[in-house]
Amino acid sequence: MLPPPPFEPYRIKVVEPIPLLGEEERRRALERAEWNLFRLRADEVTVDLLTDSGFSAMSAEQWSALSRGDESYAGSRSFERLESVARELTGMPHIFPAHQGRGAEQVLFEALAVAGKAVVSNGLFDTTRAHVEAAGGTGIDITCPASRSFSVPAPFKGDIDIDALRRTLEAAAQGRHAPVAACVMTVTNNVCGGQPVSLENLRAARAVLTEFGVPLYVDACRFAENSFFVKLRDPRAARRSVREIAREVFSLADGFTFSAKKDAFASIGGLLGTRDAALADRIRAILVLREGFPTYGGLAGRDLEAIATGLEEATDERWLAYRVASVERFGRAIAEAGAPIIEPPGGHAIYIDARRLLPHIPPERYPAQALACDLYLRGGVRTVEVGTFMLGRARGEGQGDIPAPFDLVRLAVPRRIYTERHLEYTAEVVRASVLGASRLCGLEIVKQARHLRHFTASLRPLGAVPQASQA
Ligand code: F0G
Repeated sequence: MLPPPPFEPYRIKVVEPIPLLGEEERRRALERAEWNLFRLRADEVTVDLLTDSGFSAMSAEQWSALSRGDESYAGSRSFERLESVARELTGMPHIFPAHQGRGAEQVLFEALAVAGKAVVSNGLFDTTRAHVEAAGGTGIDITCPASRSFSVPAPFKGDIDIDALRRTLEAAAQGRHAPVAACVMTVTNNVCGGQPVSLENLRAARAVLTEFGVPLYVDACRFAENSFFVKLRDPRAARRSVREIAREVFSLADGFTFSAKKDAFASIGGLLGTRDAALADRIRAILVLREGFPTYGGLAGRDLEAIATGLEEATDERWLAYRVASVERFGRAIAEAGAPIIEPPGGHAIYIDARRLLPHIPPERYPAQALACDLYLRGGVRTVEVGTFMLGRARGEGQGDIPAPFDLVRLAVPRRIYTERHLEYTAEVVRASVLGASRLCGLEIVKQARHLRHFTASLRPLGAVPQASQA
């Protein structure tokens, strides 16, 4: 295998200035945003690591593809191109566009008629779970035991627990468990630290699911990064190309959902694919209602072109080697700065274990949100809390929260946007936060919505917030 390139494997042609704020300006911005980083304006953020989704730099090829977009309502040439690129990659005969990943999820779970049934997974992303539930089903994560210990590295911590999967399917077959409508394998596993899933695990899941007649769907948001990890960490795959590995992943599945906002570098868009002709008919009918005619699915023709080109670029091994090595280096720098992270570093993000770093702040006081706010105050770095603030549930009026199983801060790395120096700077900001960690205080929620509260809630710090200039 070629070694990773010693620098970013691209030149920069279009640049955007980065906002640089003083300490006082950041403090005022955070106060105005009521300690909720989603409510900051983008021009108040210096390094934006909120997400890797829809926030990539498109290539010159993608920009030029935009101008070839065919905006015809029906039978768009751009759809035909995207369909042929996606068929070639995935082997799925039926390909549908959607406005983004969650659009594809909504249509899939309605078409699969999951009401009253379970959807099992190695780790459902929150929108996927929400769509299973909105369609009347129940989402069940069966993560592998290795994923539960953050500090112990293992090559494929995104795997599903095959024995537990078999037990669930047996129980369902014997009527001791709700029937299982489908299994979703998320690659890479975002809710488990962006960890990859092995080919062996996918093959084993396929075999068990076939035995019980349950279809397998891949949430393929980060299929290229996952396939690269397989090449890197599975000696039997070392000589195979990333594209070949990706093709095998899709060949094991009955269908897939895909957010083009991740590995395909697009600003918007998604795909839904299946081998099942009868299901494809149902999908077509629902798609027209929810997303749009099946040759545009809620997207402009130019978006279809950008996704088609992005899909061709996604499996470029020089790019992937750089991407994985760069996120790994970023993870090492954060760990060296003294922050406990999920080991090993994931494909698209680094996750700091804030519960371990801030043992004096109980989960009900949102230690990961406290750390995320501190990273913003110290260096203008925007991250996202994945913990009790995002996932905890209120026990009832005035009774506090049921804590989430973990309190993490996710630093997601958008593709081709930042250079290594931006990431080094971020690690320096983390170091300053770690040095001042014992002085950080928790927060309380003063206003929240019933669903997905973390996007809009107002918070308040419970104590004096240290000055950023105090280490
Ligand atoms: N599945 C996974 C694994 C995801 O990470 C996401 C989005 C989706 C589905 C939904 O796709 O945003 O196009 O509707 N993840 C983003 C994130 C938002 O920040 O991790 P979408």
